[in-house]
Amino acid sequence: QCVKTIMRLLELVFLILASCWIGESKRRNVLLIIADDAGFETEVYNNSVVHTPHLRSLAQRSLVFNNAFTSVSSCSPSRSTILTGLPQHQNGMYGLHQGVHNFNSFDGVQSLPLLLSQTNIHTGIIGKKHVGPGSVYPFDFSYTEENSSVLQVGRNITRIKLLVRKFFKTHKEERPFFLYVAFHDTHRCGHSQPQYGAFCEKFGNGEMGMGRIPDWTPVYYSPEQVKVPPFVADTPAARADLAAQYTTVSRLDQGIGLVLQELRAAGYDNDTLVIYSSDNGIPFPNGRTNLYHSGIAEPMLLSSPEHRERWGDTSQAYVSLLDITPTILDWFSVPYPSYNLPGNPTTPVHLTGRSLLPALVSEPISWNSAYGSQSLHEVTMYYPTRSIHQGAFHLLHNLHYLMPFPIDQDLYVSPTFQDLLNRTRLGQPTHWFKSLKEYYYRERWELYDTRTDPLETKNLVSDPSYSTVLETLRQSLQKWQWETGDPWVCGPDYVLEDKLEPRCRPLYNGL
Ligand SMILES: *[C@@H]1O[C@H](CO)[C@@H](O)[C@H](O)[C@H]1NC(C)=O
Ligand SMILES: *[C@@H]1O[C@H](CO)[C@@H](O)[C@H](O)[C@H]1NC(C)=O
Ligand SMILES: *[C@@H]1O[C@H](CO)[C@@H](O)[C@H](O)[C@H]1NC(C)=O
Ligand SMILES: *[C@@H]1O[C@H](CO)[C@@H](O)[C@H](O)[C@H]1NC(C)=O
Ligand SMILES: *[C@@H]1O[C@H](CO)[C@@H](O)[C@H](O)[C@H]1NC(C)=O
Repeated sequence: QCVKTIMRLLELVFLILASCWIGESKRRNVLLIIADDAGFETEVYNNSVVHTPHLRSLAQRSLVFNNAFTSVSSCSPSRSTILTGLPQHQNGMYGLHQGVHNFNSFDGVQSLPLLLSQTNIHTGIIGKKHVGPGSVYPFDFSYTEENSSVLQVGRNITRIKLLVRKFFKTHKEERPFFLYVAFHDTHRCGHSQPQYGAFCEKFGNGEMGMGRIPDWTPVYYSPEQVKVPPFVADTPAARADLAAQYTTVSRLDQGIGLVLQELRAAGYDNDTLVIYSSDNGIPFPNGRTNLYHSGIAEPMLLSSPEHRERWGDTSQAYVSLLDITPTILDWFSVPYPSYNLPGNPTTPVHLTGRSLLPALVSEPISWNSAYGSQSLHEVTMYYPTRSIHQGAFHLLHNLHYLMPFPIDQDLYVSPTFQDLLNRTRLGQPTHWFKSLKEYYYRERWELYDTRTDPLETKNLVSDPSYSTVLETLRQSLQKWQWETGDPWVCGPDYVLEDKLEPRCRPLYNGL
């Protein structure tokens, strides 16, 4: 009897020790850093002008993706896809969240922060939230534009540093954490805070009336120095605009350095997955709000302390911001629940993105497509487009192509766009790679070979030698739209009738 009891006790002790050991070895956290409207203006992506030493050193401990894409080129919709793994048309965040725009995700969406908090993971957000409703995107710790000034929580890197420190102070060691730091840099400022310069590059620089950000050493660039992206007109106005953007990129970089320093100081360096990316393309014509390559290509770094095999490597795999939620769920071993959303009431939602963790071990061989879905940016900017980027080919479907492409308020007042308008009005050379008219009026289908035509200028859609490519891509795109419950799946020439069995019924509207 006694021996039996001792055996039971030993068994119990062993079980307790084992669970402690597993708990200890499996301590895993996530730090997700999202920049605002940031692009490839960093040393990581071989821009030799702009100084970004902190991103460079993060890249040395990361896998760097050369083909990362957002599925939607607009702030709130993109952030909703990052935090749900569902495209905008599926989660309901069709356009911007704030003010008159008023978009929100469906109440039933099972978002990343919701799923993590249900598994006792400590969640925090610092910076720009820009999604709703609150019940879908709950965070335990939250300093955002909802209860602070977005300049303070999104651009004041000293304030951000102190908030990260505060988050770690409130954090209990035994729980894992998910901390989301959403910088407002490198967003434009001309529309909202013009007194601080086109990119808020003067905010906190210590000059009269600008205040001071104690931890920021501003770096200035001259218009002659900047590298003008091929999709931006090489004009004095655009160069000055880019020089201001670079100064803001430097502040972002120094802010990232401070956040990573706080992570290290708190002792979480060796058990935290760090992800860096941005929400959409840079705020220049052909960039943000477009599903062209220049509007959807994103920087993306994935740094895992547990996977050092490919540190410093560059991956050519096609990855999407839709992959962030599946990656983080995989990292925490949290399963995705079964539930339905309005777009597809009879079939349970499933994530079409994938976990990126396998890429940390070896280069994936068949990750070669990325999907896009845009409906609006501002509430007035209805221009639904769906796209698929597969291998060399990029297909875009502009559903309402007969309307002029809409321009957002923030881009409109930018020096680059004003200069383009002036030059066009005065009949002067624009130095842009397309005319304003071509930019406004698009064809319904656009097909590009991005290997031979990276700027996407030659539409191959009516070239018979590409008809098989066109048909294959169209079918893959349609399949993804049905799979993700896209209400726009039948437009513009059919209407979706979804009673009994969803199908497209013809409109005979001549399209
Ligand atoms: C930057 O250039 C180096 C050297 O040419 C190359 O190895 C690296 O892959 C490039 N990085 C990216 C992100 O393209
Ligand atoms: C913002 O909300 C958090 C709770 O999420 C609270 O701790 C903090 O004090 C609030 N900040 C302000 C400035 O109201
Ligand atoms: C930035 O935040 C710090 C700490 O809260 C504060 O001392 C400083 O005045 C702020 N700077 C600006 C420009 O608001
Ligand atoms: C960090 O983790 C790696 C890999 O798991 C391990 O080899 C290393 O010893 C750890 N370093 C520290 C400081 O704990
Ligand atoms: C565009 O033209 C207007 C009117 O002539 C002028 O006030 C403005 O400064 C010009 N803007 C740029 C960026 O050239």
